[in-house]
Formats: sequence, C-alpha cells, structure tokens
Amino acid sequence: MNSDVQIAGDPLAIPHLLPPVPAHPTTVAGFAGLARAIAADRAAWAPLVRYDATTRWYHRLRTGPGYEVWLLSWVPGQGSGRHDHGPSSGVLTVLEGELTEHTAGGPHTLAAGAQRVFAPGYAHEVVNDALAPAVSLHVYFPGLTEMPMLAPSHPDAAETAPLAPYSARCAAPSEETAAH
Ligand SMILES: [Fe+2]
Repeated sequence: MNSDVQIAGDPLAIPHLLPPVPAHPTTVAGFAGLARAIAADRAAWAPLVRYDATTRWYHRLRTGPGYEVWLLSWVPGQGSGRHDHGPSSGVLTVLEGELTEHTAGGPHTLAAGAQRVFAPGYAHEVVNDALAPAVSLHVYFPGLTEMPMLAPSHPDAAETAPLAPYSARCAAPSEETAAH
C-alpha cells in the first residue's frame, strides 16, 4: 500500500503543503513550523552564513514579539560548551551538515533537517564532529537573555570548550547575547 509520503512526497520539502505559518507563532508547534519554513527558504539564509575558524559565528535573523531567531555556523571541531538557556524554550534545526548534541541521555547525531525542541533548563552541548561545516537555526522563546555555561559532562568536552569571545558574551547577556 502506498503511504501518503509516497503519493505526495515529503511535505517538509514542499512548503506550500505545510499548514500556513502564522506571522508570529505563539506555540511550540508554531515555532517549530516557523523554523521549518525558514529552513526551506534556503535562498534567504544561505547568503548570510559566514564560516569563521577563530570564533563561533552567529547572526540574529529575526525577532518578533516574545521570540528571536538565530543563524549559526559551525566549522569542523567548533562546539558550544555545555550550557542551558535560562528561562527560554527553543527549537534547534540543522540546516546544513551534521551536528552532535550531547545531553544527559547521551550523544545524538543531528543531520540536516533534524529538529530538537527544548524547555527552560534544558542542558546540552552542541559540537560539529563532522568533517564539513554545518549551519543551524535556533528559535528562542522568550528571546535568549542568559545562557549559563555548565560543567562538561563528557570526556571529550575539554576539546570543545567555548572560545573566549563567545563565553564572554554569555557572561554578560545583552541584546547581542550569543545563541546556541
Ligand atoms: Fe543551546
């Protein structure tokens, strides 16, 4: 028997088949949908991406009432350090490449298209363990105001400690608070 996906194709690859995304989402599902819609609009985000081997690169793509959207790049070997997101919930979407997320439940490989939704207090460390650069999209609601760095939880963590400019921004949240 054919499945809907066999008949219609992957709806995530065809934005016009997705339910309409409200201008400003107010639910977790809405924010996940917003992230998928932005991810599908590659022509809009791809030219903005920069790869920087000396420091993590991030760009605030958009803000709305109660949320903000960040675009991040990860050259091979770059990582976030273990952190949580203060009072913010979030949706992490891999746009390109592959990232490894370390959580209390162990490492998870996130390939392009993968999404993770997390609640306030969720702790993780994200690393590009692959040999190619990666790009990710991060929606935070409410917008990220603090991002406490936490003690490493896995043996390789020392190799992925955050770079100084990144952690310095984390220590002094502002409207340019780094996202990850
Ligand atoms: Fe994070």
